[in-house]
Amino acid sequence: MRLLALVMLVAAVNAKHEIYKGWKSYIVKPESYEQLEKLGSKLLEFELDFVKNAALDREGIVLVKPEYQAGFLKFLSEENISHTVHVEDLKAQFDLEDQEILKQEQRTRSINGGRMPYDNYQPLNVIYEYIDRIAEQYPETVTLVENLRSFEGRPLKYLKISRDNFQSNKPVIFIDGGMHAREWISPPTVTYAIHKLVENLTEPDLLERYDWILFPVANPDGYSFTHTSTRMWRKTRSTDQHALSRQCPGVDGNRNFDFAWNTVGTSNNPCTDTYAGSRPFSEVEVRAVNAVIEEYLDRMLIYITMHSYGSLILYPWGHDGSLSQNALTLHRVGIAMGEAIDNLSLPSFRRYRVGNSLLTIGYGASGAAEDYAHSRGVPLTYTYELPGTGFGTQGFHLNPRYIHQVCIETWGGVVAGARSAASIYGKK
Ligand SMILES: *[C@@H]1O[C@H](CO)[C@@H](O)[C@H](O)[C@H]1NC(C)=O
Ligand SMILES: *[C@@H]1O[C@H](CO)[C@@H](O)[C@H](O)[C@H]1NC(C)=O
Ligand SMILES: *[C@@H]1O[C@H](CO)[C@@H](O)[C@H](O)[C@H]1NC(C)=O
Ligand SMILES: [Zn+2]
Repeated sequence: MRLLALVMLVAAVNAKHEIYKGWKSYIVKPESYEQLEKLGSKLLEFELDFVKNAALDREGIVLVKPEYQAGFLKFLSEENISHTVHVEDLKAQFDLEDQEILKQEQRTRSINGGRMPYDNYQPLNVIYEYIDRIAEQYPETVTLVENLRSFEGRPLKYLKISRDNFQSNKPVIFIDGGMHAREWISPPTVTYAIHKLVENLTEPDLLERYDWILFPVANPDGYSFTHTSTRMWRKTRSTDQHALSRQCPGVDGNRNFDFAWNTVGTSNNPCTDTYAGSRPFSEVEVRAVNAVIEEYLDRMLIYITMHSYGSLILYPWGHDGSLSQNALTLHRVGIAMGEAIDNLSLPSFRRYRVGNSLLTIGYGASGAAEDYAHSRGVPLTYTYELPGTGFGTQGFHLNPRYIHQVCIETWGGVVAGARSAASIYGKK
């Protein structure tokens, strides 16, 4: 009986990731701005899926479905864009990475029971249990909010952290994570920020000066789906957007905000990963993020949305590459963040690059959170592309043994950004 159970378990493990048979990923390294833009211009035609964003003289990693591989390679050769195969067999690589998660659990179990949301890639319930526990244990500084439910009915949970329950009109810093479901390194950086503001407050000035809102998993349906079914799922899981939505669920949450909606870097085809939805804010998960922005609009000074990969700090305008009136300050605070991260980083990690979204990665995106929040008047808005795959050619996702490192350095970036902004904007 036990043997049968074991056999079935092994079979189930091996059956995982079947859908990625034949998919490949490539390393591409554009050596001129023209090449970078050319790559960007082929996004929709080849359904290119940049797991790690390319930048000028900086390699990206792009996932390509079997039916587009020949055409894509031909295009790269014609344009002389240097490239190599990154992962030949995605399914095998994902199986390997599942093993790494188990190993990491063994490593951390003796330290903290293996259940901390910032020590490993954890299922949603572990993250939610952490959020609930923090709210329960620290009622004087922490308020749990769960006003809305996801499309599939999961609570959308965020924490408000404040010395005086948001009473004294301090500037607000808002950080969200997990909007893109598969970007598993994102939620740990947000739960780690909670840890550093509540459980291990080594920078008390940050609570003196600011009130905080931390929303670790903005897309819990998608996040759960990446754990139970499809590792590379990016979108929400809504099925009410289009006649095809039952076969092809979901909307790209970071294309669903109401700014220049569905004009660039998006698709009208619900079966693609950048489907913008039937209308702005069609997704309840996106409305939940927007509700926070609207509620604290007059006080919000910094908004950061955590994504991966690339070791990049990106700021508006991402849809057309023009600079905002606040570009100088956006850049200055962004540089403070990037420099602080680099100071805390590992030699094998990429140095951070800071810049306008479109100009840095070579393609534009409309309906993105960073642009939207800025368009509503939030002075400092950033997309972080966290470090990940691509030091060396090994691996697809960041090895879980580096999660803690990424959390520590990313928090260092947030701290430096908050202090830099405080010095520029005064106490308010
Ligand atoms: C690519 O390189 C070849 C050989 O050096 C050259 O003839 C061709 O014009 C180049 N193509 C582009 C688009 O730069
Ligand atoms: C608290 O944080 C500091 C700095 O990040 C670290 O050195 C220290 O070990 C932490 N303490 C605990 C109890 O986690
Ligand atoms: C980073 O390190 C450099 C060199 O040690 C130092 O000059 C700089 O102030 C540091 N920056 C931050 C933001 O910590
Ligand atoms: Zn993302």
